[in-house]
Amino acid sequence: MNMEGFSFGALSDGTEVHALRLTNAAGASITVLDYGATLQSLRVPDRDGRLVDVVLGYDCAADYERYDMYLGATIGRVGNRIANAAFSLNGVEHRLAANDGANHLHGGLRGFDKRLWEMRAEGDSIVCSRLSPDGEEGYPGDLRVCVRFFLTRDNALRIVYDAEGDRDTPVNLTNHSYFNLNGGGTVLEHRLQVFAERFCEGDAGCLPTGRLLPVEGTPFDFRAEKRIGEDIGAEHVQLLRAGGYDHNYCLSGKHAAVLRSEETGIRMRVETDLPGMQVYSGNFLKRHPGKGGREIERRGALCLETQLYPNAFNCWGFPSPVLRAGQRLHSETVYAFSTF
Ligand code: GLA
Repeated sequence: MNMEGFSFGALSDGTEVHALRLTNAAGASITVLDYGATLQSLRVPDRDGRLVDVVLGYDCAADYERYDMYLGATIGRVGNRIANAAFSLNGVEHRLAANDGANHLHGGLRGFDKRLWEMRAEGDSIVCSRLSPDGEEGYPGDLRVCVRFFLTRDNALRIVYDAEGDRDTPVNLTNHSYFNLNGGGTVLEHRLQVFAERFCEGDAGCLPTGRLLPVEGTPFDFRAEKRIGEDIGAEHVQLLRAGGYDHNYCLSGKHAAVLRSEETGIRMRVETDLPGMQVYSGNFLKRHPGKGGREIERRGALCLETQLYPNAFNCWGFPSPVLRAGQRLHSETVYAFSTF
């Protein structure tokens, strides 16, 4: 394993952003930024041994600050949406930042993705931590958060989340990497398998309504591997509302998904201890320049955001996102790469 650190440019207020890159013996590498605890690059070998960067990103800190696409960022305090940007907890109503119409999305106007973290190298991992102060974006209590990015010898990225607060607060952490196993083009030809029987119905604003719909007999059925583009254009109200896939899948177990590309022969397996996963086909991605001058385009990548079911405060029966004061949150998600 080899670790190197370098400057990643400055934010608009002059603050310098740092990068750490961890490379394993196979040549695979991860690059993480202290801005947003962001996975800036993830390079893995294809079937011919050539390294492919399989996540979208930018070349400089200023672009991460400028664009609001959450590329590779750590999302918090609560990932995805909360209806009407409010929740009540212990009899108290908390108002959150509304940054998606009237709703709250991905932690607010300045969520964890737009904050500077403390970052350090620790063995075979890159560790990012920060204190989210009481009242940040409307959330109650101080919350200590630590995200560890491990790269294994056999090309798996393991992300480990730990958090603890001094007051009861909702927490739902995820990583917002956009995967493209070809390193360019759209993901419509990628093959996807998702181990879920049901998904959350979304309303017009992509908010779970509380109803769980069976995937069976719908374009949402990925129980058997299927091309992402196969049914994405189907006349299904859930697809039309979201402009494609942008839904929480209710995972059947720890094996969440397999994504693979015939073009490069790269296969990615996703495992998690969380109950849900947002399958998002990059429908809101606008054409703009990304890393190495490569254009980012609509549906140019797939996000597989492991999470608690979104909008849980408003949906009866969804697992609670509340982390009690002094309790420890611990969660892990693995993205394991191989070739075929
Ligand atoms: C998530 C949401 C999408 C979109 C993206 C960010 O995946 O579910 O609706 O907001 O983040 O653009």
